[in-house]
Amino acid sequence: MKIRFTEDLDHIEYAIRGLVPLAKKAAEKGREIIYLNIGDPLKYDFKTPKHIIEAAYIASMRDNRNYYGESQGIIELREAISEHEKRINNVDISPNDIIVTQGVSEGISFICRILLDRGDEALVPSPSYPLYINVPELYHARAVEYKVVEEEGWIPDIDDIRKNITDRTRFITIINPNNPTGSVYSEKVIRGIIDVAGEYGIPVVSDEIYNQIVFEGRFRSPASISKDVPVFVLNGFSKAYLMTGWRLGYVYIHDPSGENRDKAISLIMKMAMIRLSANTPAQYGAVAALRGPQDHIREINRKFRERSELMYKRLSEMPGISVVKPRGTFYIFPRISQEIFSGDDKKFVERLLLETGVFVVYGSGFGETGKGHFRAVTLPPEDIIRDAMDKIERFIRGI
Ligand SMILES: Cc1ncc(COP(=O)(O)O)c(C=O)c1O
Repeated sequence: MKIRFTEDLDHIEYAIRGLVPLAKKAAEKGREIIYLNIGDPLKYDFKTPKHIIEAAYIASMRDNRNYYGESQGIIELREAISEHEKRINNVDISPNDIIVTQGVSEGISFICRILLDRGDEALVPSPSYPLYINVPELYHARAVEYKVVEEEGWIPDIDDIRKNITDRTRFITIINPNNPTGSVYSEKVIRGIIDVAGEYGIPVVSDEIYNQIVFEGRFRSPASISKDVPVFVLNGFSKAYLMTGWRLGYVYIHDPSGENRDKAISLIMKMAMIRLSANTPAQYGAVAALRGPQDHIREINRKFRERSELMYKRLSEMPGISVVKPRGTFYIFPRISQEIFSGDDKKFVERLLLETGVFVVYGSGFGETGKGHFRAVTLPPEDIIRDAMDKIERFIRGI
């Protein structure tokens, strides 16, 4: 008997994990792999702060708070998020308007599900974090890419956003600080996007998962600026609190007119109820993350910055590579000149992996503007970065 499967997933691709089987094959043949593909600090020398682990451990083991939590998220955590958003971003948001999710990833699904009908369009930056391209397609809608200008430090092209708005556009996505480019947008850029959104009556979706990982410039949330445009904010605990595997994030709506809040929350809650709840012990850990000491954030930012600067320096000295200096996050997005490699970026990355063991992600996996680039994670300790950069440089000089 042959089962008939859906064809909906045939063209869905997640570039960041797509080449893992090839890396495994190379490792089996004895090649040492340097993983620069996944933005997970815990895969390197970063650890979840002890007080967060203890809070989750106490909740789950000693106090038996292992039950299904409220679908919206435990109230202690929603209150802690509300205080945190005020303190960090100057956003006033009620705990009732926050929904705890299983990572920003789930938040992206929730938002796409409640805003997109068949044939609708989501405006996303190009290059973009791949989920924003894939998830709309899962819901029979489509991501339309707006240009982000490399020559200006990977800054959104506001005119291109305007040009791409149609009567099917349902939201404009901002990823700031940005994965994959490492850029941090100025307040002027954020205001420009809000203005266009207001002009056309479209909400903004703001992915702020790297808002505490900034080396240069200042992060501003559109929710702290917008006076009329509704903003859906997505954030989480994976990056600044080193809790990637805990799968915890949140979404809220900043709705200045108050016209959309009830409907938005009730629709997101339908999605939240279908999956019962986020992990309860992890939520107790997250309360400790937000209310406990924040010292580790300065410390990890110091390391992230040093490593990012080292990789930037090495890449910018390589022939045929040009690269914009990241201002935050732990990614870098170099351009490969046609003179050194005329094939596509996927082939470049596959050859680099097979011939040197250095595993980066091909730029076209992040959308059209990503073509001819690759994304490297800047997280490893400096000796590993040096080794990886030596290998990339030898590879480039040899092709
Ligand atoms: C921009 C962006 N959004 C969302 C995510 C997913 O985060 P989470 O671990 O909260 O699901 C990532 C992970 O790398 C990301 O870079």
